[in-house]
Parts: sequence; C-alpha cells; structure tokens
Amino acid sequence: MLEIKNLVVQIEDNRILNGLNLTVADGEVAAIMGPNGSGKSTLSYVIAGKEDYEVLDGEILLDGQNVLEMAADERAAAGVFLAFQYPLEIPGVGTMTFLKACLNAQRKARGEDELTTPDFMRRVYAAADTLEINREMLKRALNVGFSGGEKKRMEILQMALLEPKFCVLDETDSGLDIDALRIVSEGVNALRAQGRSFLVITHYQRLLNHIVPDTVHVMSKGQIVKTGGKELALELEASGYAEYRTGEAA
Ligand SMILES: Nc1ncnc2c1ncn2[C@@H]1O[C@H](COP(=O)(O)OP(=O)(O)OP(=O)(O)O)[C@@H](O)[C@H]1O
Ligand SMILES: [Mg+2]
Repeated sequence: MLEIKNLVVQIEDNRILNGLNLTVADGEVAAIMGPNGSGKSTLSYVIAGKEDYEVLDGEILLDGQNVLEMAADERAAAGVFLAFQYPLEIPGVGTMTFLKACLNAQRKARGEDELTTPDFMRRVYAAADTLEINREMLKRALNVGFSGGEKKRMEILQMALLEPKFCVLDETDSGLDIDALRIVSEGVNALRAQGRSFLVITHYQRLLNHIVPDTVHVMSKGQIVKTGGKELALELEASGYAEYRTGEAA
C-alpha cells in the first residue's frame, strides 16, 4: 500500500527526516510513537503534501504511484487523508458546505456522480450519529469554536465520508475524553478494511487498546528506529524512550 524509502526532508535548513523507511501493507494499521519533535507530524504533512517542506531525497509510493510528484489535492483524490494534530478553524465556511465540496470532489476523482442533497444529508447524519456529533454543530462554520475533542471527531467524520485509501491520524486521541476516545476508535475500527490502511500517530498506549495496531514503529530524530508488534507499545509505556535517545547519540 504505502512504501517510504530513504525519505530526507528539511525545513528552513533544519533536517527533520533523516532517511526514513516505512512500509505499511494493505489493510494494515501501523502505529508510530516517538518523543516530541522526532518528526511524526512532519512525516504526516509530507505524506499529505503540505508545502514548505523540502524533500531532499527518497520516495513515497502509494500502490506504486509516486506521491511526491502529486499536488496535495491530487493526493487526496488518490485516497490520502490526514486527520490533523491541530485541526484548523475555517471562519465563513459552513461545515456542511465544506463536507459536500470535499465529498463531491472525491467522488468526481473516482468517476462517480455527485450526490443529491438528500443523499448527502443522509450520509452525513448517519456518520455524525455514529460519532455522536450533535447536528447543531454541523450548522456552524467549520471547527469554529468547536472544543478540542469536537474538532477531532469532525476529522473522523470527514474520514468516514471520504472513505480514503490511506489514512494518517496525527494524535487524534489527544484531548479526547474517555467516551470520545471510545467513539472515535470505534469509528476508525469500523473503517478497517482490505484496500485501506492506517498510520496512527500517538503518544499513548491507551489508544492502542481501542485501535489495536498490526505494527508499532518507534520514531526518533527523523528515522524509524524500531519496529515491532502491539506489545512494543506496552514496552515503551514501561521503559520510555531513553534507550532510543542514547542509541541515536552513540
Ligand atoms: N517551520 C519550521 N522551522 C524549523 N523547525 C521546524 C519547523 N517545523 C517543524 N520544525 C521542527 O521539526 C521537528 C519535528 O517536528 P514535528 O512537529 O514533526 O514533531 P512531532 O514528532 O510531531 O512532535 P510532537 O510529538 O510534539 O507532536 C521539531 O524539532 C520542530 O521544531
Ligand atoms: Mg506532532
């Protein structure tokens, strides 16, 4: 599904990713954990195509297609989705208008017809109900004044509607209360399928009790320094990152 080879990325002369290698198989849920500043969000942005980053070397292949040659909207059309660590507030853009535009752009890219308004509403309401998103919230401008947890749920609502191929969740669990964590995790689990893979960035092993990953990767200083199964998250919880920090310095 996704293959990242020797990815080297810098921003304003600061090297952030240092020859990162990562493979995520079709249908796999891969978790990435790692200290603050190790480059996890940078990786998510580079996959999604945010500008500002200078890719010095390496490649990112999605089903063999070179993602780095595509603009951000082309990546979205190809099925790349990023749930942001800090979702942006978009004043003046109604949530429903935004969702409809995204969904129809995605359908167009897949060669499907636009949804009729009733069909669209039905889908949004169904997804919102599952995620326990209040319908009143859908009438507001996108994310404006939403609580931290409400913004995270809105990201998952977008993901559920767009049915992407490759989903990157950047600390979607941070700021969620206990019930929201369960609701969001169930939303993600319901989307697990062949033909869809996930990269779940988190600091907390707790999330991985809800979204049980197939693989866990430790990132440090812009590289994947260890890969294991879900038990690796438990080891990290117990031992912290000291081992990886010293390993890097040596
Ligand atoms: N515009 C920028 N200019 C300079 N350095 C930057 C810029 N953007 C990011 N960085 C640096 O890149 C490094 C990696 O940042 P990134 O946000 O990817 O880390 P992270 O692993 O997601 O951390 P966290 O766990 O805190 O979310 C940090 O040291 C950060 O300061
Ligand atoms: Mg981050």
